[in-house]
Amino acid sequence: MNSLKRFAVLIIVAIMAWSCSDPNSPGLEYMPDMYRDPSIGTYEPSDLFPDGLGARKPADGSIPRGFTPYAYQNNAEDYEKAGDELRNPLAFHDDHLKEGKRIFENFCIQCHGKNGNGEGTVPQSDYWPGVVPAYDSDRLIDLPEGKIFHSITYGKGLMGAHKGQISQEDRWKLVFYVQKLQGKDPSKLGAQSTSDAENEEERTEEA
Ligand code: HEC
Repeated sequence: MNSLKRFAVLIIVAIMAWSCSDPNSPGLEYMPDMYRDPSIGTYEPSDLFPDGLGARKPADGSIPRGFTPYAYQNNAEDYEKAGDELRNPLAFHDDHLKEGKRIFENFCIQCHGKNGNGEGTVPQSDYWPGVVPAYDSDRLIDLPEGKIFHSITYGKGLMGAHKGQISQEDRWKLVFYVQKLQGKDPSKLGAQSTSDAENEEERTEEA
């Protein structure tokens, strides 16, 4: 009986020792398919492709879901083009203006000031090297909507780009609000005005 026990212990120790023999072996797997599915893991090599990489780039020209490409580049020529061609795709609505105001107060007010007069807290600090022009100054009063949108997108001078923080649709809502701060009535600037919430159809691009 005693020797049988000793034999059993010996067998168990032998199995344990054997299971450690190959450090790369996962040991005995009863249902290996549960762990090892045939799909390629993140950054796993793969011989399906000539370069041996499992991680693939998106196909040329693909865009992230929900992303709208912007056709104008960040240069002086496209700034002018945007000014000439680009129109607000949103039909004016009071809710857009309200939302534009909210976004303005989150992202712009610190420089442009509550009324868009350029007297926000940032330019009033000793560290600010320049001025922020007022929206209703001679310099900006006639700024067309396309340029307003373009400058919010890419930034201008000391102002940074906002394309990474604010979606295109929200930037167009901001344009309505900037126009209001220019002293204009954005409901009368090109877009057909709609006052009921049902009729929120987008104006088609004419340019
Ligand atoms: C860090 C301060 C700062 C912030 C934040 C800022 N701006 Fe500006 N903005 C400026 C300055 C400075 C100028 C003048 C740029 C120039 O012409 O050199 C300017 C110019 C502009 C212009 C005129 C652009 C043109 O084409 O001449 C518009 C429109 C404008 N800002 C809108 C916005 C809006 C909307 C936001 C918020 C999303 C914003 N800005 C956030 C500092 C700022």
